[in-house]
Amino acid sequence: MNEAIIVEQIGRQGLIDLAAAFYKQVPNDSILGPMYPLHDMDGAEERFRDYLLMRIAGEEDYTIKRGHPRLRGRHMPFKIDSAARDRWMEIMENAMTATHVPLESANELRDFFAQLADFMRNTPG
Ligand code: HEM
Repeated sequence: MNEAIIVEQIGRQGLIDLAAAFYKQVPNDSILGPMYPLHDMDGAEERFRDYLLMRIAGEEDYTIKRGHPRLRGRHMPFKIDSAARDRWMEIMENAMTATHVPLESANELRDFFAQLADFMRNTPG
């Protein structure tokens, strides 16, 4: 992933907006909604936002609060099959559209998200 292009085009505020636009859709989603902690959506959004700011903009809050991401392990409590992966990618695509992520950054982010989302699968189907 070319982090520099993303930072240049959308900046940290763009990543914050992207996380918000993603999480806004989660509670009403038929597949993802039931997996997320509806009583703590602000916390979930904060964890994801901090992760993006760490991974893409080199900020330290995520690491200070959560340590090593261990993303595959942290997703094990949830049954993630290809339908869940595809839905995650779909609402992320909506979030990129809603926040007007420019083409080059969207291409970078989409490849990065697609690889990780596939890696997170832990349930057949
Ligand atoms: C493949 C479909 C995916 C599903 C169904 C899914 C679902 C979830 C759920 C239910 C949580 C718990 C919410 C919370 O309380 O924080 C979570 C956390 C998280 N997810 Fe995902 N996720 C997926 C893919 C991804 C991808 C592709 C990324 C990275 C780009 C990601 C990054 C994170 C992060 C950073 C957290 C918080 C980890 C922590 O506890 O520190 N997820 N995800």
